[in-house]
Parts: sequence; structure tokens; C-alpha cells
Amino acid sequence: MKPYFRPRRLRENPILRRMVRETRLSVDQLIYPIFVREGKGIREEISSMPGQFRFSPDMLMEELRSVQELSIPAVILFGIPAQEKKDPMGSAGYARDGVVCQALKLAKKNVPDVLLIADVCLCEYTDHGHCGIVREGPETGQGTIQNDETLEILAQTALVYAEAGAHVIAPSDMMDGRVGAIRETLDEQQFEHVPILSYAAKYASAFYGPFREAVESAPKFGDRKSYQMDPANSREALKEVELDLDEGADIVMVKPALPYLDVIFQVRQLSTVPVAAYQVSGEYSSLCAAFAQNWLDREATLVESLLAIRRAGADLLVTYFAKEAAQLMKRGEF
Ligand code: PBG
Repeated sequence: MKPYFRPRRLRENPILRRMVRETRLSVDQLIYPIFVREGKGIREEISSMPGQFRFSPDMLMEELRSVQELSIPAVILFGIPAQEKKDPMGSAGYARDGVVCQALKLAKKNVPDVLLIADVCLCEYTDHGHCGIVREGPETGQGTIQNDETLEILAQTALVYAEAGAHVIAPSDMMDGRVGAIRETLDEQQFEHVPILSYAAKYASAFYGPFREAVESAPKFGDRKSYQMDPANSREALKEVELDLDEGADIVMVKPALPYLDVIFQVRQLSTVPVAAYQVSGEYSSLCAAFAQNWLDREATLVESLLAIRRAGADLLVTYFAKEAAQLMKRGEF
């Protein structure tokens, strides 16, 4: 029997293949995450994330210039304060001379063509490593995370980052109502033009392991399941996105990315705003480990992983592969 339908006709010729490709990667979609550590002259590789570094603010400028040269439009900054500055309130996060503020001010002056996104969360700055204020529960004697008290600190942190020059504020804590709280504070202080990129659907994922080593933010007790989402849920992700949109989020993000493509797809259907996806540390590191063993082809696999996230519906990609992907694009590899 000769087949009547032959989808292979469109796959035979590479030129035609290129023409009918449904999803494209562009450097314009990339956001590069960078870790900024308090101090001077620091550029240290993160052992669990080969090829990724912690930079002190002075050393960060060179890195940002290479980002700019590759035409990557944006970075998202994570701060690592000196260990002795961590406290129960995470006050090093909203200190006006804190490490992220130092980096923002320097970057704004020296590398004006890179869009600066500031991650807002407490976990890198609290001594207990949680993303919110902790109080002992009356019955259990165990620490519980205080939602509403945390909102004030998040809003203050966002304000301080906006004052220091952040172009976009990205809250990643998963407290209820934080987008609204941050929006209100920014608007009151004449930062109504600063957009909020909300980590709207952020899961309590084991894929954050290497990041927590990178920023030394692993919680000292318990886990993050009382605020980050259960990996089993997707309807709940839509609820989170709806709430964040109601509170004024300008961009919504799903995180992690590759294990949550169905969530990205659904969020894309629901949202009229741009959707971002975060290919997190564990996704990066596990691929790198396989590349190191020659079990997976580096370039083909990393491109495929980014393409899959785009195909699911993400407009913007936060990825530790951003520089490498941009280099491949420059060489015209895809
Ligand atoms: C901070 C934060 C985390 C990540 C981004 N912001 C870690 C966490 O929630 O434990 C993870 C990023 C990554 O794994 O690459 N709340």
C-alpha cells in the first residue's frame, strides 16, 4: 500500500525544513542569571554548576560587558551577603549599601545596555534560610513562615532595588499578596514605571539543589513546602497566575521549566501578558553532568531543551545556558 499522506515531504529539504519550523529561538528572549557576592576581586566557580561563577560587584562589570557583547538583553541578579550579615529579618537584602544595590549602581553606570532584573527574596539573607519571617508556632513550637509580616520586607527590598537602578523587580518568595504589596510601594514612591516579573508558579522543586549551594540559602530547618507549590498541582498554578495578574504582575514566570512544560502551556493559554520560564540550576547541572560524560551532545541537547520550553509557550527564557546559546546563535548554528 502506498501512503497517501507524506509529512516527510516537508522534512526532506533542509531549506524547506527551515521555512516550516514553528518555533524559533532568538537572543532577544534570553535572561542570564548571575550571582553577586559581597567583597572585592571575587570570581569563583560554583562547584555544582560548572561554568557559572560568583562575582563581587567590581568583577561583575567585565561579565556584564560580555553579556552585552553577545546581545543578551537582560540579566537577573541574585545577592550573596557576607555570612555574618545574615539575620532573622534578612536585613542585608534591603540595606541600601547591600551587595545587590552595589552591583545595580555600578552596572547602571558602566554597562547601560543590559536590562537589570533584581530577584527579590529573603532566603539568601536570612540566617534560617527561609523566604519569609519565621515565628514559633504556639502549638507546635516549630517555626512557621509569617506571610503578611514578610510582605513589608519584600516591598521595602523592591523599593531599595528600584532606587539603586533595577529596571525590573522579580519577586521569587511565593508569599501571598506580594505582587500587590510591591506594586503599591513602588507606585507610592514614584516607581510606577518599574515592571514586576512575578515568579507566579514556583514549585517546591528538588531541582533547586545546586542554586542553594551557589547562594548558601538552604533552609536550616524544614523545607519550603508551606509556600512553594506542590509539584503535583497544575490548576493551582493557574490560580497563582490569576492572582498575580490581578495584583498587577507585568510578566508571569513558571519555574522550573523542562519538568513543567504542561504548566507553561496552560499559563500561556490563560495569560495575556508575556510568560517567562526558568530553566533552573538542577536542570542545568544535570545536563552538564551528562555532557561531561559524553552521554549527551552538548550543543544539540541544550538547544533542544530551550526549544522545548519555547514550544510549550514561554516567551522569555531564564537560563544558565544563555551565553552559550547566544554564542551559537551568533555563529548561526540555529
Ligand atoms: C530564591 C530562589 C531560588 C531560585 C531562584 N530564586 C531558590 C529557592 O527557592 O530555593 C532557584 C533558581 C535555580 O535553582 O536556578 N527564592
